[in-house]
Amino acid sequence: MNYFSAVDVITTKRDDGVLSDDAITWMLDAYEHGEVAEEQMSALLMAIYFNGLSDRELNTWTDRIIESGERLELTGLSRPTVDKHSTGGVGDKISLILAPLVAACGAAVPQLSGRGLGHTGGTLDKLESIPGWRAFLSNDEIRAQLDSVGAVICAAGQGLAPVDRKLYSLRDVTATVASIPLISSSIMSKKIAEGTQALVLDVKVGRGAFIKSFEQARELATTMVRLGTDHGVATIAQLTSMNAPLGRAVGNALEVNESVDVLQGHGPSDVRELTLALARIMVELVGIDVDPETKLDNGSGYEVYQRMIRAQGGDPDATLPVAACRDDVVNHEDGVVHSIDALAVGIAAWRLGAGRARKEDPVSAAAGVVCLVREGEAISEGQPMFELHADDQAHLQQGRDAIANAVVIGERSVNAEPLLLERITN
Ligand code: URA
Repeated sequence: MNYFSAVDVITTKRDDGVLSDDAITWMLDAYEHGEVAEEQMSALLMAIYFNGLSDRELNTWTDRIIESGERLELTGLSRPTVDKHSTGGVGDKISLILAPLVAACGAAVPQLSGRGLGHTGGTLDKLESIPGWRAFLSNDEIRAQLDSVGAVICAAGQGLAPVDRKLYSLRDVTATVASIPLISSSIMSKKIAEGTQALVLDVKVGRGAFIKSFEQARELATTMVRLGTDHGVATIAQLTSMNAPLGRAVGNALEVNESVDVLQGHGPSDVRELTLALARIMVELVGIDVDPETKLDNGSGYEVYQRMIRAQGGDPDATLPVAACRDDVVNHEDGVVHSIDALAVGIAAWRLGAGRARKEDPVSAAAGVVCLVREGEAISEGQPMFELHADDQAHLQQGRDAIANAVVIGERSVNAEPLLLERITN
């Protein structure tokens, strides 16, 4: 490998030039080994933020992140593997339903997940509200559970794409998170290293998503689909609306309960609609000719869910933690619900204790919000709009303040906006 000067690499990207494969590989290697300083990598990230990466540069950047760690070996399983990644939303509990449902259709679903940060929840935080459930599995345990149950939701090991963790922490404090090539390489390097054969991406757009513009969401989806496909992972993206919260429940145990409702054939229609849309893409990607709706309606998805929770030490029939303090937020005028701001509801759930500001903060299992009204519904004065759940009165008050202006009430009727916006294929 040639030796490069970090300053030359930064200068090239600052001036909108193209980095060679060797320059990218050297820079990321040297950064990983502490030979490129944090301030130099910060400067390069900012240059990429403004000037982007070509397709080739992005492939090389992603390859190097993957090669910084191990790859999970998932070949030789008795079922084809397919995973899902969501860019994060409010009330997004889809993984809890989707993974067992797609396993019930005959695929193996390796969902290596993370924790929530800020106003969006994390799948592991939700499942950890189930007594006894264990997030950390060894690679051998993951393989064994995929073979026996067909679905695993567990913590992504420290061995996958370690340089991404270092880069992500740096991006977080240098205002360089919101870059399409950097987000794409960060997400896709971990999914490619996980070893799945196929992947569906749920790219959220709207008030409660970290991408607010449809055009940007489409560009992110297109970039990730190309990266996946170029790395041999059959990838499709579904753009979905995240203006209003998904379903009614926002908060860890509350969302587990709602997921079980859906698996038992009840629950909010939007959660069911999105789960089935993503499940259909997943089975199609791995060539399984089964309609997931039949497996949801005949209880097979729920059966796999129970086995999946038990396999990781959890009791799927246990009563989940319940908040000590509850309060309703009441509406003050007659009219029609025009919008419910997912961001405000997400922030309220966070303030109530369901989310964390820093990676090391604990979360409350019981805290959160239940949305009692939906967009398009008629509402009268005095009707409760939200149920707030918290472990103490101080958190309850913070949640009440955060949710105060979340609902817009109008006079005329409105149609609820579509959830499924566009599908992006290669
Ligand atoms: N999630 C990731 O894993 N990386 C990003 O850059 C953004 C979201």
